[in-house]
Amino acid sequence: MKNQPMPVPISQPPIEIGHGRILHGRALDLLPSLETGGFQSIIADPPYFQVLLDQAWDNSWQTPDDYLDWTLQWVRECKRLLRPDGLLHIFGQLGKREHVWLHLCSMLAREMQFHDMIIWDRAVGYNERSDSFTPQYEMILVLRHENCAKPYFDKNAVRLPYSEDTIQAYLKDNRYKDMQARERHLRKGKYATNILRVPSLKGTSKEKIGHPSQKPLALIHQLIASSTRPGDAVLDPFLGSGTTAAAAEQLGRTWVGIESHPEYVQMAHQRLKAGG
Ligand SMILES: C[S@@+](CC[C@H](N)C(=O)[O-])C[C@H]1O[C@@H](n2cnc3c(N)ncnc32)[C@H](O)[C@@H]1O
Repeated sequence: MKNQPMPVPISQPPIEIGHGRILHGRALDLLPSLETGGFQSIIADPPYFQVLLDQAWDNSWQTPDDYLDWTLQWVRECKRLLRPDGLLHIFGQLGKREHVWLHLCSMLAREMQFHDMIIWDRAVGYNERSDSFTPQYEMILVLRHENCAKPYFDKNAVRLPYSEDTIQAYLKDNRYKDMQARERHLRKGKYATNILRVPSLKGTSKEKIGHPSQKPLALIHQLIASSTRPGDAVLDPFLGSGTTAAAAEQLGRTWVGIESHPEYVQMAHQRLKAGG
C-alpha cells in the first residue's frame, strides 16, 4: 500500500505562507485550536473511505460505522468554527462506498441544516463499473447552521459567460425595447447551476502535481467565490495538495489548511511558494 501512515508529531509549527497557514497534523487534533465562528466557508474533501484502495489514508477505519463516527466528530468541530451565515461544503462520491456516503448525508442533515447538493460533473467517467452506468460525478453536500435562514451567497460571483453566437441570437429577440440594456445584461453571463461541469485533472494536466485526489482549481474557485467576500477566512481540514489554499490566495481570501501527511504538507507548501 502506498503512502503508509506516518506518525504525526503532536505539534508542528504552522507554515505561514501568503495569507494563510498550513497546520501539519490530524484534523481532530487541530480543529479544537481554531477560533469559534472564525470561518465564512469550509471546504472539506475528506478521505472517502475505501475508494482509493492503495492509499493508507483512505483505509484507516475498520468499519463504515467507525468512519461515520469520525466524520461526525470533525463535522461538529467545523460547525463550531463556521460563522453564523457561513457554508460548510463536504465532498463525497458514490462508487464503492455508496452506502456510507448516503448514510453520511442523512446523518449530517440531522446535525446541521441541509442547504444544497452540488454535483461536480467531472466530464468523463471515472471507474470501470460493470453493473451500471459509468460514474461521472461527485457530490458536494452543502450545510448551514440550523438557525440560519439566509447564508451568505454571491450568485454574481459565479456567472458563466454566454457565447458570442448566443448573445447575437438573443439580441434578435425584438420583445425587448432597450437593446443596449439587454446586451449589458447578457454580457454579464448566466447564473451557474448547481451542476458544476469542470473536467477532472488528467495525469498529463499541467495543474496536476502528484496528489491522487487533487481537485481542479476552477472547481474550488467557484465554491470560494460564491460563499465568501474578499478578505473572509476559508478553512480546509483536509488540504491535500493545497487546492483550497491556492484558490483562496488567488481570490484574496485568508485561509487555514490542515493536512496529516508530511509529503502532502510539503507538496502544498511548494505549490503555494510557486504561486499556486
Ligand atoms: C481527498 S484528499 C484532499 C485533496 C485536496 N482537496 C486536493 O485538491 O489536493 C484528503 C486528504 O486528507 C488527508 N488526511 C487524511 N486523514 C486526515 C486527518 N485525519 N486529518 C487531516 N488530513 C487528513 C490525506 O492525507 C489527503 O491528502
